[in-house]
Amino acid sequence: MQLTNLFVSALLAMSVSAADDNKGDGNKGDHKGGNSVGKQCFQMAKLEMITKFGANDTAVAAKFHNNQTAIDDFKKKVAASDTKLKAMSANATLVSECATINAEAREKGECGKMKFAEKMLAMAGNDTALQTKFKNNQTKIDAFKAKAEGAKADLAAMQGNATLTSFCSVQTTKHECRKMAMLQKQTDMAKNQTALEAKFKGDEAKVKAFQDKSAKWETELKAMMGNSTLMDTCKTLNQAQAQNTNNAAAKDGKKSAAQTLEAFSGLITAAFAVAVAGTLML
Ligand SMILES: *[C@@H]1O[C@H](CO)[C@@H](O)[C@H](O)[C@H]1NC(C)=O
Ligand SMILES: *[C@@H]1O[C@H](CO)[C@@H](O)[C@H](O)[C@H]1NC(C)=O
Ligand SMILES: *[C@@H]1O[C@H](CO)[C@@H](O)[C@H](O)[C@H]1NC(C)=O
Ligand SMILES: *[C@@H]1O[C@H](CO)[C@@H](O)[C@H](O)[C@H]1NC(C)=O
Ligand SMILES: *[C@@H]1O[C@H](CO)[C@@H](O)[C@H](O)[C@H]1NC(C)=O
Ligand SMILES: *[C@@H]1O[C@H](CO)[C@@H](O)[C@H](O)[C@H]1NC(C)=O
Ligand SMILES: *[C@@H]1O[C@H](CO)[C@@H](O)[C@H](O)[C@H]1NC(C)=O
Ligand SMILES: *[C@@H]1O[C@H](CO)[C@@H](O)[C@H](O)[C@H]1NC(C)=O
Repeated sequence: MQLTNLFVSALLAMSVSAADDNKGDGNKGDHKGGNSVGKQCFQMAKLEMITKFGANDTAVAAKFHNNQTAIDDFKKKVAASDTKLKAMSANATLVSECATINAEAREKGECGKMKFAEKMLAMAGNDTALQTKFKNNQTKIDAFKAKAEGAKADLAAMQGNATLTSFCSVQTTKHECRKMAMLQKQTDMAKNQTALEAKFKGDEAKVKAFQDKSAKWETELKAMMGNSTLMDTCKTLNQAQAQNTNNAAAKDGKKSAAQTLEAFSGLITAAFAVAVAGTLML
């Protein structure tokens, strides 16, 4: 409930201009610019939420503190958004591609919710951590505990869903694999003076700061590489991804669906993170 409101606010903050921000610059495929399928799906999801929110007069009036001028302005934007949404919805190919992409994004959102609830409950059971976090304010601690208690049933339901937990476990592993690749890249770079000078444009202080961190990265990387289960899984995932990319490239020379998905769910995750950050502030 609170999460939904925050999500809507985040979308509104991102502006209602979704209705007119489709001056795409070709098929870049990334989610920032361009008019990739992933971006169009994100735009549609945004438009749907705006339309839905705009249809609730109570919610709109509350949002704009009953300021009729502001409400009328907003309603105009909602109408434009709705027109745009209808036009996009008329494209059956797009609608069907988005259904697939949205389903995966939604599932990733569920993984995020599950992880968040797990962390919250772990925290609620750790008095030391609570006292630090809330600076010994018992009112705040009690409120947090009550909130965690309320998340228990939801969490149990999610944890009891084997489809979801196995999907999330794959996501976690993928994330670890990506992290390993990044640590490797940074560790290599810390040893490459030429690359460092170029990256930091010769700023020696920055070069040194980067190098100072590399010992920590290397330790972390070694620990991860010592996990043979993880290493094997990453290898398998990389092969599968390369295969996917090749197939897609062979088919139409465009970005693979998997890559589009990655980009799109990144956006969803970002939006979700905004909402979660909001609830964390209590
Ligand atoms: C409209 O918004 C109000 C306040 O946010 C909410 O209580 C109500 O359930 C919403 N109505 C519908 C039909 O979604
Ligand atoms: C109502 O909203 C309009 C447009 O956003 C704004 O210009 C005006 O100052 C607001 N009026 C009040 C009383 O807040
Ligand atoms: C429908 O959407 C697909 C996917 O974005 C796109 O390739 C196609 O050109 C669109 N068709 C029309 C008629 O706009
Ligand atoms: C509780 O939190 C503290 C501080 O964050 C941490 O050091 C400790 O390991 C946690 N205890 C348990 C049982 O998780
Ligand atoms: C503890 O938190 C509550 C709720 O946020 C606040 O009203 C109260 O002033 C705080 N107490 C202290 C001692 O800071
Ligand atoms: C289990 O999770 C999957 C993926 O999120 C979802 O499609 C399915 O409806 C869930 N099943 C139940 C019983 O909630
Ligand atoms: C160091 O970085 C430069 C520039 O990125 C690259 O051309 C070179 O191959 C790297 N050297 C090593 C040993 O990796
Ligand atoms: C090794 O990685 C696997 C897969 O990510 C994980 O489930 C397991 O807990 C890890 N083992 C150790 C010792 O960290």
